[in-house]
Order: sequence, then C-alpha cells, then structure tokens
Amino acid sequence: MKALRCFSLLLSLSVVTALGDLSRPQNLSLQTLNTQYVLHWDWADDQQTAVNGTLTFTAQYLSVLQSRKAAHKQKWRTVCADVSERHCDFTDAGLNYWGIYYLRVRANTAQWFSSWTNISFCPDRDADLGPPSSVKLTSVKGDLEIVIADPLSSTNESMKTLAPDMHYLIQYWKKPEDYKKGKVLKTKNNVVTLSELDGSTWYCVRVQSCCDFYNKTSVFSDTHCTRTEDGKCSDCEMDYRWIFIAGVTAAVLVLAVIGYIIYKRNSKAGLIQKRDDWRDDGE
Ligand SMILES: *[C@@H]1O[C@H](CO)[C@@H](O)[C@H](O)[C@H]1NC(C)=O
Ligand SMILES: *[C@@H]1O[C@H](CO)[C@@H](O)[C@H](O)[C@H]1NC(C)=O
Ligand SMILES: *[C@@H]1O[C@H](CO)[C@@H](O)[C@H](O)[C@H]1NC(C)=O
Ligand SMILES: *[C@@H]1O[C@H](CO)[C@@H](O)[C@H](O)[C@H]1NC(C)=O
Ligand SMILES: *[C@@H]1O[C@H](CO)[C@@H](O)[C@H](O)[C@H]1NC(C)=O
Repeated sequence: MKALRCFSLLLSLSVVTALGDLSRPQNLSLQTLNTQYVLHWDWADDQQTAVNGTLTFTAQYLSVLQSRKAAHKQKWRTVCADVSERHCDFTDAGLNYWGIYYLRVRANTAQWFSSWTNISFCPDRDADLGPPSSVKLTSVKGDLEIVIADPLSSTNESMKTLAPDMHYLIQYWKKPEDYKKGKVLKTKNNVVTLSELDGSTWYCVRVQSCCDFYNKTSVFSDTHCTRTEDGKCSDCEMDYRWIFIAGVTAAVLVLAVIGYIIYKRNSKAGLIQKRDDWRDDGE
C-alpha cells in the first residue's frame, strides 16, 4: 500500500506541484515531564482550505543507532497513525530513558502525504524533571521534619532509578518574610530534619528536584507551612516539673542557710549577753 502510494506520488509529481505540495508539519516540540513525552507540531492552516478530505498526521520514531543503517533497513515505529490532533503521546511507546531517538511526523490527506519533519530526542537529556510527588512537613520537638517522595515515572517508578544523581533543593523561610530571605539546603535524602529554628514560629518549605549531569531543575513543589513548638525542650511538661522541684529545693536550702546564720548570731549574742551579766554580778 505504502509502496503503491509512493509510486503514484512519483508518477504524479507534476500534478502535485501543480496542486501545491502538501506542506510538512513545522515547529516540532516536546512537552515532557519525567517519562511522559508528548510531541507537538504546527501545520500551516491556510493550506487546509486547498486540501480536500480529512487532514491527518502520522508520527513515528527510530533509534539513532538504527538511523545509521541503510534507509530500507531502518524500522521506524508508528506511534500515532492518521490522527487529526496536532500532537502525539510517546509516553507508552517504550522509549528507553537513556536512548537517543529521531521522532518524525508528516501530514496526510486521502490523496497525498507530505515529507517528514524530524526532531532528535534523548529523554535523559531533554525531558523535564518533575518536582517531588509529595512533600510532608511536620513539627517535631522544636525541629521541622520534611518527608519527600521522589518524582515518579509513568509506571510509578522512582525517577532516582533513571537519574541516580537526582537530589533535592529545600528552600525554607520564616512566614512573614518570603523565600528570598530564606535558606537553601541540598540533600539526597528523603527525610530531612531542620534544626536550630526559632520556637513558636511559622516556617514555610518548598522543594525542587535537580539533576546535575544535564543541569536539570524541576519546578518547585507546593509550599507547606507549619509552626515550630515552644522552645527547644523535648518534653516541656517534664522540664517544667524539674525546674519547679529544683527551684523549691534551692529555696529551701537558702532558707535553711539563712535560718542557721540567724540562729548562730542570736545564740552568740546571747552568750555575750550572759557573760556581761556574769561580770556585772561579780563587781
Ligand atoms: C512556527 O513557529 C513560528 C514562530 O513561533 C511561527 O511564526 C509559525 O507560524 C509557526 N508555524 C506554523 C505552521 O504554525
Ligand atoms: C474539493 O472538493 C470540493 C467539493 O467537496 C470540490 O468542489 C473541489 O473542486 C475540490 N478541490 C480539489 C482541489 O480537489
Ligand atoms: C532529520 O531531518 C534533517 C533535516 O531535515 C535531515 O538532514 C536528517 O537526515 C533527518 N534524519 C532522519 C533520521 O530522518
Ligand atoms: C500510579 O499510581 C497512581 C496513584 O497511586 C495510580 O492511580 C496509577 O494507576 C498508578 N499507575 C501505574 C502505571 O501503576
Ligand atoms: C544550570 O542552570 C542554571 C539555571 O537554570 C544556570 O543558572 C546555571 O548557570 C547552569 N549551569 C550550568 C553549568 O550550565
């Protein structure tokens, strides 16, 4: 069928030029997130009026390794066949994250098809990295604990398995201020404790995923805010009880010492008084 169409195209080349060649898709671009890849393209609309029958598009891919083979040995795989939309979802096409591919698209009508337009695509290099799939913030004993869930692939696999250099940048700041006055923490961990914070203070946190190799950074996660607990004591009720006991003990001790001193003084004064009395008696 394809061969036949090609053959007829060759035969009617003069007719094609006479009718105006079916223009090829333009401006190929990929909209990507983790392992979701959607190819978009434009097509010159002004031509559509001249084209009879429905206009459709066909999108295919080929690995770069395959592209080095002779043209007749290249096995382009079709992902979208004769679709009317101007985009094609390659997410489930089975592209290897570390592979390099050509993606191509052409326009078709009942009679004609355009030539192909291609774009090269390497998911590892080109696909956007997503923010953490979730961020949880809790106030624990005056510290803040952040639990970060990795961004996920389209098969719910952690993106860390595909991009092992992935890490997080955590931005945190005090509530009335904004993030520009905050601090940034770089980590590979999924559970992070922020300590040395002010007590009874609202803090906000947001997290970004990053990969250094291709210098990728995701958008930020949603901002989460919570209030730190009072002071730094681990169990405040317990601490207050101890402070009370220590205070009472100290007070009792001080009173005892003062009492003793007063008693000593009084008894000394008494002795002197007694001696004086005795002297008076003697004279
Ligand atoms: C391709 O993109 C350029 C620049 O954005 C635009 O001017 C042009 O109209 C686009 N082509 C089509 C067919 O839409
Ligand atoms: C397109 O179809 C219309 C009728 O639907 C016909 O009048 C016209 O001649 C056709 N144009 C071309 C270029 O085939
Ligand atoms: C991709 O397009 C470019 C320019 O249009 C062309 O030189 C190249 O051969 C094409 N590659 C493949 C694999 O079709
Ligand atoms: C991934 O997880 C979400 C939510 O847990 C679920 O709805 C979806 O079906 C999962 N997808 C796959 C491919 O396992
Ligand atoms: C990495 O990207 C950031 C922002 O996107 C940019 O400021 C920085 O210069 C880039 N670094 C390298 C080595 O490309």
